[in-house]
Amino acid sequence: MDVIDVILTKRDGGRLSGEQIDWVVDAYTRGVVAEEQMSALAMAILLNGMTRAEVTAWTEAMIRSGERMDWTGLDRPTTDKHSTGGVGDKITLPLAPTVAACGAAVPQLSGRGLGHTGGTLDKLESIPGWRASLSTEEMLDVLRSAGAVVCAAGTGLAPADRKLYALRDVTGTVESIPLIASSIMSKKIAEGTGALVLDVKVGSGAFMKNVESARELAETMVAIGGDHGVRTVALLTAMDRPLGRAVGNAVEVAESVEVLDGGGPEDVVELTVTLAREMLAAAGLDGGKDPADALRDGSAMDAWRRMISAQGGDPDAELPRAAETHEVTSSETGVLTRLDAYGVGLAAWRLGAGRARKEDPVSFGAGVICHAKPGEQVKAGQPLLTLHADDAGRFEHALRALDGAVEVSAEGAPELLPLVIDR
Ligand code: URA
Repeated sequence: MDVIDVILTKRDGGRLSGEQIDWVVDAYTRGVVAEEQMSALAMAILLNGMTRAEVTAWTEAMIRSGERMDWTGLDRPTTDKHSTGGVGDKITLPLAPTVAACGAAVPQLSGRGLGHTGGTLDKLESIPGWRASLSTEEMLDVLRSAGAVVCAAGTGLAPADRKLYALRDVTGTVESIPLIASSIMSKKIAEGTGALVLDVKVGSGAFMKNVESARELAETMVAIGGDHGVRTVALLTAMDRPLGRAVGNAVEVAESVEVLDGGGPEDVVELTVTLAREMLAAAGLDGGKDPADALRDGSAMDAWRRMISAQGGDPDAELPRAAETHEVTSSETGVLTRLDAYGVGLAAWRLGAGRARKEDPVSFGAGVICHAKPGEQVKAGQPLLTLHADDAGRFEHALRALDGAVEVSAEGAPELLPLVIDR
């Protein structure tokens, strides 16, 4: 097979055969196809798209590049969730133990934040002692004892995607629906979950800025899941404003614990319960214990404590706090009409909650607390946001990110996407 032929076929708008896809993904993983050749192919795919058969074959080839996990020995069905990422999206933290408390097993391989979006592993690592890297045997032990495990994917899982994602990140080829869909689904299918709920975020703080592109991504991923025997459902949910009131790492853990304790912000509770019901239904467990009851009766909190302890964390430890704070106050009395997810995410990133390069450390205490959410009444002089950073020099930079992201109006109402846009 000749890599130039493969590139030219896609460049000229043709369809790649199954053999071409199997060969090019395998040869790239082995280093036979060079980075610059895969970069040209990724750009041709971004510009010319892929058919459903091509996306399925591409996903299969990426799964085959590594190991596939198998949880069939467990005594309960497996189900998982994947979010396409957003600002303040801590949902996995209350969700995984809630679903475990309702009788399913959640084997979640999760990621770190990059850019303005946060990563579940960075948030959980702010809990003293908690470990993200587990062997498959350790994952199985945590699943058996706690019902849910959230950890980093090992290097053996979809190595083709690991290599290709790093390449796409530096070649302007991330924003291709077939490449995003196959990247996400290859890892989720290789993870071995029996059912999957996709939370496809829409809005300024998400990958997909409008409902049409989010729907296309969701439909592509649901089709791939179905083709591979994973019962897959997708919800389109709002990411035009941050989720909850806390954006960062330790601050999001604290907010998640409030939810597990039966309190917490309404939107975080609603999305946790909605996604949990979908995960249980996809696993064939609807009609059993309801997730809202698991949050009320303490069983979700018990599962959380078991899950954190089983991974070396201390659920009672004090969480890290940033040394410095800065308040942003309202200059007017009125209604908060705008709290832009991208602006707040960018501010949290600049405060140190996120990283600029994969190898950078994050500040566990850094982030933003939103005292008001869109639609709420505020008074002149009232704090709207508190910025947290280890170094006060970061505030100026973060404040620039918030320019135009926060608006209070004497009259008028915010135009917001519904929390759950579509299923
Ligand atoms: N997340 C992934 O895992 N892959 C992508 O391509 C985009 C987001």
